Amino acid sequence: MGYSAENAIKTKFDHAYNMTSPVEYLKEMRSLDYQIPENSKTILNFLIEEKKQCTGKDVIKILDIGCSYGILSALIKFNLDLEVLYNKYNQKGMDKGRLDDGWFRNLPCRKDVEFHGIDTSANAIEYSISSGFIESGLAVNLEMEETVQSGKLPDDVDIIVSTGCIGYITEITLGKLAEHYKLEKPWIASFVLQIFDFEPIGDALRRYNYNSVYLDQRKFRQRKFKNQNEKTSVTQILSKRAETASEKERFLLEEFMCADFYLSQPSGEAKSNVFSVFT
Ligand SMILES: C[S@@+](CC[C@H](N)C(=O)[O-])C[C@H]1O[C@@H](n2cnc3c(N)ncnc32)[C@H](O)[C@@H]1O
Repeated sequence: MGYSAENAIKTKFDHAYNMTSPVEYLKEMRSLDYQIPENSKTILNFLIEEKKQCTGKDVIKILDIGCSYGILSALIKFNLDLEVLYNKYNQKGMDKGRLDDGWFRNLPCRKDVEFHGIDTSANAIEYSISSGFIESGLAVNLEMEETVQSGKLPDDVDIIVSTGCIGYITEITLGKLAEHYKLEKPWIASFVLQIFDFEPIGDALRRYNYNSVYLDQRKFRQRKFKNQNEKTSVTQILSKRAETASEKERFLLEEFMCADFYLSQPSGEAKSNVFSVFT
């Protein structure tokens, strides 16, 4: 299946994904007011607390798919706002993303979460580990004929999350992770740009006995459109996808591309109360 038509109309940022530092990536993302990692924090923090309650664990292990330079984990572990990171990496002397000014090391770091990451970018994974943003990581493309290598990631994780990555990854990656973690059955929290149809992923996860629901009261700003062409093309895709009046309303475009939130949990397990967060 894949999302080739949708990806064809999206602006490409590949040049910024595989650098030795996040400076260029953050500069480019900031110019488009990229904000999905920030906007996902409330939900992710809520899921962390719920997982602690359900499992009795003190430390929740999170696998971030398409973790890039570890931005989401930095926001959560150091309790930062994205604006603070944008400013930090925009400072003079951060042009190589050097962390040796001790700023990160001196920040209070949460002890109740561990982050692990997957990304196709070996440089981004290396940076995320060396900066202490993630505990372990794997540079791999599970969309291709590659598999999850045991030993490179924890044997068990509690939550799998993705922001800004569905589209690059499909049901193939999520199916392989569901297979790899079929005993632990982590919750899967997906922030999905509205142009991408989640159904193939939901179907793949159902084969592993997952039930997926989406938060219909809320959409999440991801980033501004790069230009009018992108906005026009996205509008065309969304108007084809919207079947009902409420979908038309949800897909209504402002100046931002927006994401929906989907939560996939094992059928039979008590449903998370995440949907109470915004009601
Ligand atoms: C828009 S960035 C999002 C980064 C991060 N999740 C965030 O929200 O800040 C997309 C990321 O997906 C990664 N990516 C692209 N294709 C991938 C794949 N097949 N598997 C894993 N990661 C992939 C890119 O290298 C990039 O780091």
